[in-house]
Amino acid sequence: MKILVTGGAGYIGSHTCIKLLEEGHEIIIVDDLSNANIEVLERIRELSQKDFAFYQVNICDFEAMDKIFGKHDIDGVIHFAGFKAVGESVAKPLEYYSNNITGTLSLCKAMLKHDVRRMIFSSSATVYKVGNTMPVDEEAPLGCTNPYGWTKLMIEQILNDVVVANPDWSVVLLRYFNPVGAHESGRIGEDPSGIPNNLFPYISQTALGRLEKLYVFGNDYDTHDGTGVRDYIHVQDLAQGHIDAANYAIKHTGAVAINLGTGNGYSVLDMVKAFEEINQVKVPYVIDARRPGDVATVYANASRAKKLLGWEAKKNLRDMCQDSWNWQKSNPNGYNKV
Ligand code: UD1
Repeated sequence: MKILVTGGAGYIGSHTCIKLLEEGHEIIIVDDLSNANIEVLERIRELSQKDFAFYQVNICDFEAMDKIFGKHDIDGVIHFAGFKAVGESVAKPLEYYSNNITGTLSLCKAMLKHDVRRMIFSSSATVYKVGNTMPVDEEAPLGCTNPYGWTKLMIEQILNDVVVANPDWSVVLLRYFNPVGAHESGRIGEDPSGIPNNLFPYISQTALGRLEKLYVFGNDYDTHDGTGVRDYIHVQDLAQGHIDAANYAIKHTGAVAINLGTGNGYSVLDMVKAFEEINQVKVPYVIDARRPGDVATVYANASRAKKLLGWEAKKNLRDMCQDSWNWQKSNPNGYNKV
């Protein structure tokens, strides 16, 4: 298939692009590089030993998208592009709504114009309402606590409505739990700009000595050790989920939401201990106050992914810790060489 990947230079996008190329698909990456490094593209070429078309374009630019769709005979779209920092979205709601929603509308308009009917969308478990019982399945009540989350939920709604109006479309909404890990080669991985917000990059940068210590946000939650429990999923398993979803979208029409998680919950301290033991490093930490907006426990019921896509997570905690560390220590400054 010929697949257009928006945000293909990002963390999950880049891992997915390599798998798509390895599986023999042709890809066209559209990324404005606002939160990705151009070096990623070289590494995708290096690891896959394949070439692809790249456009440095913001998907909000309909005219540019129209041209790209006109030039390539595209079979389907995997849509990652969007702003993704929760805290920043609270401070800059209009930027988030404008970029994420306008970008998706422009993309859908170009798809409609060029009769491209398949989309895999990068959604998030953040669309589930706080207070749901765990494990959470796709029918659980939805609702968000920050603009980033709302953009994901609003885009899900937009895509559902596009499918109602165009029943020959096929849309898969992939709701990721907590993506971690990196490509086994250590050549691509997560490269957050500035101080990381998410746990795993914070742990690896602390182990490296780039950050002094980890702040554990709360140890008085109702969990086995008092720290927050999440469903961490290896980015390579997530990437495979997109390939399986793309294959599903060829054979089906309609819109479906699918959780991509392992179904296992680990606490912050479980993760710190595992990272230290598996990689033989120290991760100094202190207990700090709870982070506003955090909940005690989130993990997936991933049975729909298995039933519909034949997908399940294969990587374990050891793989997540090893691969994250391998990437971090061989790229101490991420993609910036200095
Ligand atoms: C966060 C976002 C979520 C987003 C997801 C993407 C919030 C409230 N939620 O999920 O919308 O889809 O990232 O990956 O930001 N922790 C620490 N110290 C740290 C960082 C995190 O103790 O320095 C703890 C948190 O309290 C939490 C766990 O580690 O219990 C995981 O945190 P994080 O990696 O930020 O992910 P989520 O909050 O689950």
